[in-house]
Amino acid sequence: MSSNLESAKDLLVFLGKSLLSILEVLLSYVIPKQRKNVAGEIVLITGSGSGLGRLLALQFARLGSVLVLWDVNKEANEETCQLAREAGAARVHAYICDCSRKEEVYSVADQVKKEVGDVSILINNAGIVTGRKFLECPDDLMEKSLDVNFKAHLWTYKAFLPAMIANNHGHLVCISSSAGLIGVNGLADYCASKFAAVGFAESMFVELFALKQKGIKTTIVCPFFIKTGMFEGCTTKWPTLLPILDPEYAVRKIVDAILQETLYLYMPKFLYFTMFLKSFLPIKTGMLLADYLGIFHVMDGFSGQKKKA
Ligand SMILES: NC(=O)c1ccc[n+]([C@@H]2O[C@H](COP(=O)([O-])OP(=O)(O)OC[C@H]3O[C@@H](n4cnc5c(N)ncnc54)[C@H](O)[C@@H]3O)[C@@H](O)[C@H]2O)c1
Repeated sequence: MSSNLESAKDLLVFLGKSLLSILEVLLSYVIPKQRKNVAGEIVLITGSGSGLGRLLALQFARLGSVLVLWDVNKEANEETCQLAREAGAARVHAYICDCSRKEEVYSVADQVKKEVGDVSILINNAGIVTGRKFLECPDDLMEKSLDVNFKAHLWTYKAFLPAMIANNHGHLVCISSSAGLIGVNGLADYCASKFAAVGFAESMFVELFALKQKGIKTTIVCPFFIKTGMFEGCTTKWPTLLPILDPEYAVRKIVDAILQETLYLYMPKFLYFTMFLKSFLPIKTGMLLADYLGIFHVMDGFSGQKKKA
């Protein structure tokens, strides 16, 4: 009898709290969530030498954060460092780090802890794409995709999460892709690495939630193509529904999501609808829709990131 009462009480508490959480989300559409202050926070950005990484560095420089910039490309990273100083950053620290190499991540992370302090916002942004069909893609390139786009996230979490847990304060940002939500032909290794990154970040969010580490936030970003050069030559058949995004716009949305502590950010909005359709449409209908949207041909013109002279 008493266990029945307990179960009924648990159910009521669950329903009440669930209702409150839904109301909270609905309210946030009317009154947007307050943005958090990141002045003085130590923000580490991987792949900061170009594209999104560089623009993120400039945004956080304007917000008064202390910047730790990691890239394999020394020259490009120093250029970002200079631009960040011009944008107002008082403290910028640039490091050469190939984040696909575990030992290098651990050793540069130790250097950062000694020279700068505990990283409180970790943005795993570095990424590469091979852009080749599976059977035409050399094994070492596929391994590299997984190492940079996914495994680097494991090593950086191992290096910086313990201090976040000790301080019950931090933010973990995963720059994944729409290719981390939906499989795409010609992008199998990239999709695998981006799905893995989403799965890892989401699991770590749940692990930290279960540990009641309420001070550590997670943001998972899944954008469609962005005009940074990484997917040079790729096209979209329906630019109104699936536009190739402007990098400045994408970075503004990413920074907003971080400041508002949003868990998932998909860009453009049509992706939310696509995920909804994916959850129930018959696979044949899904493939017909993909064909209609021109998805099978987005990679046809791919030429990729041009090397700077
Ligand atoms: N551009 C797009 O269309 C697009 C779309 C969805 C997701 N993304 C993701 O956004 C992120 C940023 O992409 P981007 O468009 O700015 O690309 P980008 O090529 O302009 O920048 C990537 C940066 O990562 C650095 N990098 C590469 N390998 C590295 C390594 N092993 N260690 C450290 N740094 C390394 C590069 O030197 C470069 O500076 C990537 O994770 C990418 O997969 C991009």
